[in-house]
Amino acid sequence: MFYDDNQIFGAPLAGITDKPFRRIVRMFSPGVPLYTEMISCHSLVEMHKNCPRNFDRYDDEGNVGTQIFGANVALMADAAKILQDAGAAWIDINMGCPVPKVATRSGAGANLMRDHKLAEKIMRAVVSAVQIPVSIKTRLGWDDGHRDWAELIHIAADCGVQFAALHGRTRAQLYTGVSQLPRLLPDVKIPIIGNGDIKTRSDVKNVLDLGYWGAMVGRAMLGRPWVLGELAGLCVAPRNVGAVVLQHLEYMLEYYGGRVAPQMFRKHAAWYSGGMPNSAEFRIRVNQISDANELRTEISKFWGCEVDI
Ligand SMILES: Cc1cc2nc3c(=O)[nH]c(=O)nc-3n(C[C@H](O)[C@H](O)[C@H](O)COP(=O)(O)O)c2cc1C
Repeated sequence: MFYDDNQIFGAPLAGITDKPFRRIVRMFSPGVPLYTEMISCHSLVEMHKNCPRNFDRYDDEGNVGTQIFGANVALMADAAKILQDAGAAWIDINMGCPVPKVATRSGAGANLMRDHKLAEKIMRAVVSAVQIPVSIKTRLGWDDGHRDWAELIHIAADCGVQFAALHGRTRAQLYTGVSQLPRLLPDVKIPIIGNGDIKTRSDVKNVLDLGYWGAMVGRAMLGRPWVLGELAGLCVAPRNVGAVVLQHLEYMLEYYGGRVAPQMFRKHAAWYSGGMPNSAEFRIRVNQISDANELRTEISKFWGCEVDI
C-alpha cells in the first residue's frame, strides 16, 4: 500500500509543491506521500503548453498523488486517465479549494462540498476511469451552518474512493482562525488524514489521537522541506541549510530554465531565510536578481557556504 497507518503526508500547495520542491522534500524523506499542485482538468486534457507540469512524468517519483480540480465530469475522468498514464501513484480530487476562481466561478473545489450530487458523479467517473487509488481532499463544510464533511466522506466511500484528507476549517474560514479537526467516530468507512496547522510532533500525536490515519502538513514545509522527515523521525534539520537552498535552486533551474527560475525562486529564498539575521536585506537583494549565477553567489554569501555542492 502506498500509505500506512500513522503516515505523514505532504499537502498539495499551488505554486509550491512542484517537481523541484518534491525532489527537495524527498532528499529527507524519500518515500513520503506527496501531492502535486492542483491541476485543472481543462488545462490537462487540452495540454496547455504554458504549464510545464501538464507534461510531468511521475514514474521516477514513486509515491505521488496528482491532484485534479474541475466541475466537468467527463474531463475529470479524462484528466485522471492522463495522470495515471503519466505514472501517478494515485489521483486526488480537490474538494476544498476556496478561492473564488475555483469554487464560485468554476463550480469546482470547495463548491463540491455544497453540491454533493455533482461531487458524487465526479467521484464515480474518476474511480471507474482509473485502476489506481482515488482520494479526495476536503474541508469541514461550506460554512458554519453546513459542516457536513461526514456525509461527503460517506458518499466518497460508497463511490470507491480509498481515503480522504480533511482540513479542519470551513470554506468560509479560508485560512483564518485555528484548524479544528473533529474526533472521528468508528463509523467512518475510509481512512482519513487530518490536516491544518500541523507543525510539531505533538500536533501529529493530537491528530492521531483523534482517530486519524495520518497527518498532512502544508505550510510548515515552506522553507523547511525537511520537516516531514523530522516529524516522521527520519532526519533532523540539516546543519548546512545553504546547501539545501542551492540544491533547490538547481532543481528549479533544471525544470523551469534560467530565464524564469531565478524569479520563481524568490519566494523560496524568502521562506528559507525567514527569521535569520539580515534576512530582510537578503530578500531585497534577491528580489532584484534575474541571473542564476548571481543568485547562486548571493545565496552562498548569505549562508556562508560553497556554491559547488
Ligand atoms: C499557498 C497555498 C496553496 C494551496 N494549494 C492547494 C492545492 O493546490 N490543493 C489543495 O487541496 N489545497 C491547497 N492548499 C491547502 C493546503 O493543502 C492545506 O489544506 C492548508 O494549507 C492547511 O494545512 P496547513 O495548515 O498544514 O498549511 C493550499 C494552501 C496554501 C496556503
